[in-house]
Amino acid sequence: GGAGRCGAWVQETNYTRLCNTKSILTVNGLFPGPTITARRGDTVIVDVINNGNHNITIHWHGVKQPRNPWSDGPEFVTQCPIQPGGNFSQTVLLSDEEGTLWWHAHSDWSRATVYGLFVILPRLGTTYPFRQPDEEVPVLLGEWWQADIQTVMENFLESGGDPAISDALTINGQPGDLYNCSASGTTKIKVDQGKTYLLRMVNAGMNNLMFFGIANHSLTVVGSDGAYTKPLVSNYITIAPGQTIDLLFEANQPNNRYYVAAKLFNGQPASRFQNSTTTAIIEYSGNYTPSNPLIVPSLPASNDRNASFNFTSSLRSLASAEHPIDVPLTIKRTLFYTLSINAIPCAANETCEAIRNTSRFAASINNITFDMPSSSVLQAYYRGVSSGVYGDDFPDNPPLKFNYTQASGLNATLRLPTVGTEVTLLKHNHTVELVFQGTNLVAGVDHPMHLHGHSFYVVGSGFGNYKRSRDAPNYNLVDPPHMQTIAVPQNGWTAIRFKADNPGVWFMHCHFERHVSWGMGMVFIVRNGKASNDKVLPPPADMPPC
Ligand code: C2O
Ligand code: CU
Repeated sequence: GGAGRCGAWVQETNYTRLCNTKSILTVNGLFPGPTITARRGDTVIVDVINNGNHNITIHWHGVKQPRNPWSDGPEFVTQCPIQPGGNFSQTVLLSDEEGTLWWHAHSDWSRATVYGLFVILPRLGTTYPFRQPDEEVPVLLGEWWQADIQTVMENFLESGGDPAISDALTINGQPGDLYNCSASGTTKIKVDQGKTYLLRMVNAGMNNLMFFGIANHSLTVVGSDGAYTKPLVSNYITIAPGQTIDLLFEANQPNNRYYVAAKLFNGQPASRFQNSTTTAIIEYSGNYTPSNPLIVPSLPASNDRNASFNFTSSLRSLASAEHPIDVPLTIKRTLFYTLSINAIPCAANETCEAIRNTSRFAASINNITFDMPSSSVLQAYYRGVSSGVYGDDFPDNPPLKFNYTQASGLNATLRLPTVGTEVTLLKHNHTVELVFQGTNLVAGVDHPMHLHGHSFYVVGSGFGNYKRSRDAPNYNLVDPPHMQTIAVPQNGWTAIRFKADNPGVWFMHCHFERHVSWGMGMVFIVRNGKASNDKVLPPPADMPPC
C-alpha cells in the first residue's frame, strides 16, 4: 500500500449551536473533525499535537492495526494520554479494511466533539463492488450538549445516576431546523435528478442508537464497519454508536426538497424526550417551487425494538469472489459474556440518588466492572510486569447462571458486581466464539459492543436467553456480516466469531459512553505467535509517558 502523513492539532475552538457559544475540543479547529482518506492497505502517519488544555488520546475505530497496538489509542489500555503540550506520531496500519470507518478521541468523554470520518477507498485500479456513485456525501450523526462536556461527565460520575440527556442530535455537527436557532446552519445536500449518491455514515453519538431515513427515498445499504455487504434495500436504517454504514440512494423523485432525519432508538416511549429529531435537507437542483413544509421521513418509534432488530439482523456479507469471507468453522475457545447494568451501594455520607437513594449504577461483563488502571495495560504486558496493573482472571463464563432476561427486582446479590482489571488471554490464531447475553438485572437495554484489533462475524442473534442446543444450529456461517461493533438486542443475545490473529492488547467495550464509564469493558490479550512476523512490534520512541 501507499503511505501518507498528516497533522492533527487538538485545540479549544469556539462553536455556536442552539444560540449558545462554547469552547469545544476540536482537531484543526474543525467540528466535526477532518476526514482522512486513504486506500486499502495504506499506512497513514498522524502527528497528533495536543494544543488543548486536556489530556487526550485518538483511536482509529475499526482499523485493526496488525501487531501495532501502540497506536490504537484507548486511554490506559494501550497508552497513557497525550498531555497538554505533548505530541505523539501514530502509525495507522490499514490491512483488509475497505469502505467507511472513523476516528475519535478515546479518553474521558472528549469524543463528543473530537471525531471524523476515515474513508478507505479500493486499491488503485480496483472499484467498488456496486454501481459507481456520482458523488459521495459524509453523514456524521452526533449528540450536542449545551454544557461543557467535561462538566456533563463529572456531574454524571458524581451523581451515580444517568447522564444529562444531550440537548440535540446532530448531522455533520448541525442540529437542523427542527431545533431552535438552527435553521441557517442546517446541513444541505444538493442533488441532481437521476444521479446516485453514496452516503458514508457513522453514528458518532455518545449514548444512543438512532433510526435514519430520507423522505420519499429508499436506501440501499452496501457496506458496514469497513466491509461490503450484500445490497439491502430499506426505508430506514438502525445505526449503533461506533457503527458505520455505507448506503446508496438515487435522486429519482420529483424536483423538491426532502428531509433527511435521524432520531433516537432507545427503547423508551418518545414522550420521555423532546426535540429528538435531527434533520438535513436534500435539495434537488433546478427551477421549481419546493413544497412547504418539508416532509419528514416516517421512522420507527423510539421503542420499536423489532424494527431495530430486523434491520440489524438483515445485514449480510457480500461474500463474493473478490471479497471472500473466512468464518471460523471450528472453534478453539468458547466464551459466554453477560452484559449487565448493576447497582453498587453508596458509601456512608455519599450523596448518590441514582437508585432509591441507596445505590449508584455500575455496569459489568460477566459481573466484573472494569476498573480502568492509571497506567497502560499494553506497556505492563510488553514489559512482563502486570502486577499492580492487571490480572488475567477474566472468566470465560458468568459466575452465576440465572434467568438473564428477567428483572431481578431488588436482589442485591445478583446486582452487585466485582470491581477489577481483568483480561482474557487468547492464544495466537485461536478461533473464538463469543456469545454476548444481555441481562435485565437493573435494566435491559441494547449494548453496542465494540472490539478493537479485529473484525468479527455476527453469526446469530435473538431475543431472550441464549440456548446453545437451540441457537447454535441456526447460525449463519455462509454470509454473516463482518463487523467491529454490534448492538446486542435488549434482553437478547448475539453470537460472534473471530480469529485471534492480531498479537497485542485490545479493548472490548460497550460503545455507550455512559456504560463504558460505568465499567462495561474488558481487555483481550492476544499472545505472540512463534514466527517473528507474528509478534507485537516494538513500541515507538515517542509513546506518551505514563
Ligand atoms: Cu470507537 Cu474503543 O472505540
Ligand atoms: Cu452498554
